[in-house]
Amino acid sequence: MNWSARTRAVNSGRRDGEGDPANVPITPASHLGLGYAREDGTDTWRAFEDAIGDLEGGHATAFASGMGAISAVFDLLPSGAEVVVPTDSYAGMRDMLGHAEASGRLRARRLDPRDTDAWLAAAGEADLLWLESPTNPSLFEMPIAEIARAAGAAPATGAAVGSDRRPIVAVDNTFATPLGQQPLSLGADVVMHSATKLIGGHSDLLLGVTVVATEQLAEQMRAARRRGGATPGALEAWLALRGMRTLPVRYAAVSATAAELAKRLGEHPAVVDVRYPSLGGGVLSFELVGAESADAFCAGLRLIRHATSLGGTESTLERRAARPSDAHVPAGAIRFSVGLEDPDDLWADITQALARLE
Ligand SMILES: Cc1ncc(COP(=O)(O)O)c(C=O)c1O
Repeated sequence: MNWSARTRAVNSGRRDGEGDPANVPITPASHLGLGYAREDGTDTWRAFEDAIGDLEGGHATAFASGMGAISAVFDLLPSGAEVVVPTDSYAGMRDMLGHAEASGRLRARRLDPRDTDAWLAAAGEADLLWLESPTNPSLFEMPIAEIARAAGAAPATGAAVGSDRRPIVAVDNTFATPLGQQPLSLGADVVMHSATKLIGGHSDLLLGVTVVATEQLAEQMRAARRRGGATPGALEAWLALRGMRTLPVRYAAVSATAAELAKRLGEHPAVVDVRYPSLGGGVLSFELVGAESADAFCAGLRLIRHATSLGGTESTLERRAARPSDAHVPAGAIRFSVGLEDPDDLWADITQALARLE
């Protein structure tokens, strides 16, 4: 049967042998007889990997964090390879690439995520196209299928990287989740998630994952984890799978609230710009006039937390331009991760904090 994503999120990764527990248990073990967890994985990791792999339509490998997963993808590249990244994208990834560039290991090219022509041109030249869609923090959307097509249709083989072949196309799908889009089905070779965010969904863990199109690439991901040592914690992998069971209902709920709040914010006289991705999701962004008003707004909130990170049950928001790594963002722009609270309560908090600015 062709079960829907909502049904598979609930059921994938369970073991259905006679007498198996409802949930794959937490396995706090460094060795499993002659097997070693960092080299061979554990059942707890595999249950999570099976479930997210099912939703994304590929082979999953879990890592200690999103950054651990990104690092494993960069590890596919030979020294001197060229990586193309969006100028607006997760700051930690840009920092990692900047470091690799400064030390001479990789070459970096930074393109505006909105400049599709530049991406299509780069697709013929680069070794790794790193896409993020929607981008963090500005929520720009990139045409994944079009860029993947320009990069060549054949399935990726990591072994071919650096020779006369096509680039690897990787997509950070943290904001969209597999409910919003499945990049492998759009032609990408690698999907990456910070499962710390919507997948885990409760702001109680750090975890990352890659999902790749071929078993060969999956083996390279596992090898990178083996070498790099960015292994998931047993509890974190278990919690992330528990969180994933409710991802479809949480995603639907935060998408509905975020769309409604984006609409109301767009009609508010104090708000100069609102961004909300066309494919939905729980993150929106809105702009007030200047850093001072935005800071005063954040300080005036009573319910929504002025906090970093996103994708939890609780609403959080942050003025990203306050961080040097995101200085390119408009000074008054606020990234808003919408949680599961009553939308009218969130709106009441927003309007009372905006009223204080007058
Ligand atoms: C889009 C995106 N990618 C990757 C990461 C890195 O993930 P982690 O913090 O789990 O290492 C983050 C974290 O904020 C993120 O927002």
